[in-house]
Amino acid sequence: MDHRAVPIKVGVVGYGHLGRFLVDRIQRDGPGVGLSLAFVWNRNTDKLTDSVPDDQILTDLAEFTDRNADVIVEVCHPHIVKEFGIQFLAHANFLVGSPSALANPQLDQALRLTAKQHGKTLYVPSGALWGGQDIQRMNDSGSLRALSIRMSKHPSCFRLGEGLLSDWSEVEGRRVLFHGSVADLCPIAPNNVNTMAAAAIAASALGFHGVAGEIVSDTALADYHLVEIEVTGLDGFSVKTQRRNPAELGAVTGRATYRSFWSSLLVCKGHGGRVYLC
Ligand SMILES: NC(=O)c1ccc[n+]([C@@H]2O[C@H](COP(=O)([O-])OP(=O)(O)OC[C@H]3O[C@@H](n4cnc5c(N)ncnc54)[C@H](O)[C@@H]3O)[C@@H](O)[C@H]2O)c1
Repeated sequence: MDHRAVPIKVGVVGYGHLGRFLVDRIQRDGPGVGLSLAFVWNRNTDKLTDSVPDDQILTDLAEFTDRNADVIVEVCHPHIVKEFGIQFLAHANFLVGSPSALANPQLDQALRLTAKQHGKTLYVPSGALWGGQDIQRMNDSGSLRALSIRMSKHPSCFRLGEGLLSDWSEVEGRRVLFHGSVADLCPIAPNNVNTMAAAAIAASALGFHGVAGEIVSDTALADYHLVEIEVTGLDGFSVKTQRRNPAELGAVTGRATYRSFWSSLLVCKGHGGRVYLC
């Protein structure tokens, strides 16, 4: 238990599945772990009125600085990262729930620079990524040579653009939907690639274009999502991991990922002006 006298004030941007989960946990468990709510913003404030006290509802996101949040959590949409991420980081530590926004190299660079200039940390939640900090260490030591990630789910768990997978049937089995770079995958599957985006951020020497991503639809996966990662280093070094993430039919986000997000938030106490996988 954390006995900090002054709790860390958290601003939550977005009140969908993840936002609601985080706000509930902060309200319930925050005092015991040194967290309090600075504000909650959602584009539609009606969703907030039953569960968030009036004085914690922020109606105009541009006025977030009035609430003096120590850490701002985006669990909304990559557009919000693009529009507000730099302002957030200039004033607070920033936990970016939609890291696929950093597939845009200009935004990625601008966020890294702002973090450095203001001494604030850009936190990237590991979500369903296993071994992210090991990947980052290999990246930083110059020994990372290749990285590939395959994410397999039941077809009802994908939200894809370009009409991909609009024709699935319950008996079709396994279908590879995309294989290529994470950079090319992000626009097609923006809600399904956060894990891969977090990996590409950890592997900054390879970048979004240098990390391979594959998404697979599989009707056999009715109870869990599968995340398989292969890391290649120097002199034949390699690691393969396979993570099973329990999930209901139709769920974009596996259950363990919600708990993982909460653990990530607990880490956001300030690690200086840099990107930090948590
Ligand atoms: N990092 C990870 O591992 C991980 C895991 C799950 C979800 N996510 C990402 O986190 C974000 C939230 O996920 P969720 O499951 O809570 O989604 P959700 O759809 O349940 O909720 C999203 C919320 O943001 C709002 N919203 C959507 N588009 C918006 C826009 N353009 N401008 C303003 N508000 C907008 C919606 O009204 C909703 O309240 C998504 O971007 C999702 O891709 C990341």
